[in-house]
Amino acid sequence: MTDLAGKHIVLGLTGGIACYKAAELCRALVKEGATVQVVMTEAAQQFITPVTMQALSNRPVLHSQWDDREPNNMAHINLSREADAILIAPCSADFIAKLLHGRADDLLSLMCLARPIDRVPLLVAPAMNREMWSHPATQRNFEQLAADGATVLGVGSGAQACGETGDGRMLEPTELLEDLIAFFQPKPLAGRRVLVSAGPTFEALDPVRGITNLSSGKMGFAIARAAREAGAEVTLVAGPVSLPTPRDVNRIDVRSGLQMMAACEAAAAQADVFVATAAVADWRPAQASDHKIKKDGSGQPPALHFVENPDILATLAQGARARAGDLYCVGFAAESHDLVANAQAKRARKGVPLLVGNIGPATFGQDDNQLLLVDAAGTQELPRASKLTLARQLVTEIAQRVSR
Ligand code: CTP
Repeated sequence: MTDLAGKHIVLGLTGGIACYKAAELCRALVKEGATVQVVMTEAAQQFITPVTMQALSNRPVLHSQWDDREPNNMAHINLSREADAILIAPCSADFIAKLLHGRADDLLSLMCLARPIDRVPLLVAPAMNREMWSHPATQRNFEQLAADGATVLGVGSGAQACGETGDGRMLEPTELLEDLIAFFQPKPLAGRRVLVSAGPTFEALDPVRGITNLSSGKMGFAIARAAREAGAEVTLVAGPVSLPTPRDVNRIDVRSGLQMMAACEAAAAQADVFVATAAVADWRPAQASDHKIKKDGSGQPPALHFVENPDILATLAQGARARAGDLYCVGFAAESHDLVANAQAKRARKGVPLLVGNIGPATFGQDDNQLLLVDAAGTQELPRASKLTLARQLVTEIAQRVSR
């Protein structure tokens, strides 16, 4: 199941060099299952041709309010009634000014004005030079546009086509896609703050070696994304992994178990929910050598001494906030056998209301998984699916338990 299956998106393009990214965005929307109707302003056609957008969307592009192909000759009405959302990307400074004043002298602005405001959301992805972006008129216009009910997506920062560097670039197609998918998700965690730990830890032996494990961090990153999509403010404490940060998630990178403990303890003070997916090393070298440990020629391995790492989940679950019911803690258990019995035992041992079990070797590094939820009421299976699908189901389950 793709994330935008059954959704009809009107993709509006206005004049700006970022139109080249709209081609990729259109392709990504179609790939995710949406039907896409492209509408272009005259200025947009100076940057990219309707031919390209027609080929990618597999539909004729509309650009004139006088187009007589529509049987009732009212493209602006038909378009705005059929859409599940209107996404303007790129949205120029000039087009914003137009929207704001309710002007309607071309098909795209006419359609935006004609949209049923309570039923068809309007999302805009600004794209402009940094001076134009920071101009008080533009900022004022965006604020007012949001107050008028539109969703203003952010802008990127960096090198601009004009040669200057700063804010105002259009978000990348993958970012816009993630924002649109998130927009359609239900928001059962709105107003909640969620802390997620993810990935392995790395316990240094010396400056070049250490002890780690095969956790990829994918499940934790998927949960962070799903919680954000569900409306939560999310902090993700991540061990060493090479995964992109989910949109709008506050990521704190750490390396060792001790660093992860400190970061989680600090963030938990403001959190309502803690989901511990990290595979924290149980042991760390008692003393990391500050220089590389060399062979001494005797053929004997060096004597290594280990001490136990703090249990982050158990510590936070036993803390004052959890005891007062202010921090809902969810643990994960990666087991190799006897999943139900081990998960139940681990739930009691860690002192958490909800424990999520999975078979470790079958999930490490994979894109899909299957989960077993264990709480006071019993067990519940979430059958094999992608980690993001499971993460969304788990977030729904957590939201229900938190709001009881
Ligand atoms: N966990 C943690 N801090 C640790 C160890 C584990 O926060 N130092 C959390 C994990 O993030 C996970 C849960 O505790 O949510 C279970 O971890 P796991 O390593 O599977 O359990 P252990 O306590 O190590 O038990 P065992 O080794 O017996 O399986």
